[in-house]
Amino acid sequence: MAIRDIVLMGDPVLRQEAEDVTVFDAALRALVRDMYETMYHADGIGLAAPQIGIAKRVLVVDLRRADEDDDEPPKVALINPKIVWSSDETYRASEGCLSIPGIEEIVERPFAIRVEGRDVNGNEVVVEAEDLFGRALQHEIDHLDGILFLDRVSALKRKILLKKWKKLEPERV
Ligand code: NI
Repeated sequence: MAIRDIVLMGDPVLRQEAEDVTVFDAALRALVRDMYETMYHADGIGLAAPQIGIAKRVLVVDLRRADEDDDEPPKVALINPKIVWSSDETYRASEGCLSIPGIEEIVERPFAIRVEGRDVNGNEVVVEAEDLFGRALQHEIDHLDGILFLDRVSALKRKILLKKWKKLEPERV
């Protein structure tokens, strides 16, 4: 297992459309293990493969670190996930991203979704997710399509946040 480097906004891999996984082998399982380890090390609740520089449709989410009173917080690794249904009901909540450290903003998203995909062994899975779990999955699936959460805020907000991001640059190097 290894902690991988997390790529930051500005790296072109975060803007790429990630490719479907076609081979479910030991290398994929190792990738998922590394993604979990990297996410835990960075204190995140979700990570998509492009964030470690790999343009494949793989994500992990683990809400154990989220501040929630949940006895069994959801933990999932999804391969080739696809949102097949979203609720009309939306809600607004603050988001951040391990690839955009220091930046947070309110994002409006559907409250509930249904996702179809595969597990690490290639078995078909369906995941119903709402609230924070649904939000985390939507955020990570966006990464697989080259979308960042800043793309989902108003142009004005984005401008302000990009300015702040630039100002934080000296602290990143
Ligand atoms: Ni992110």
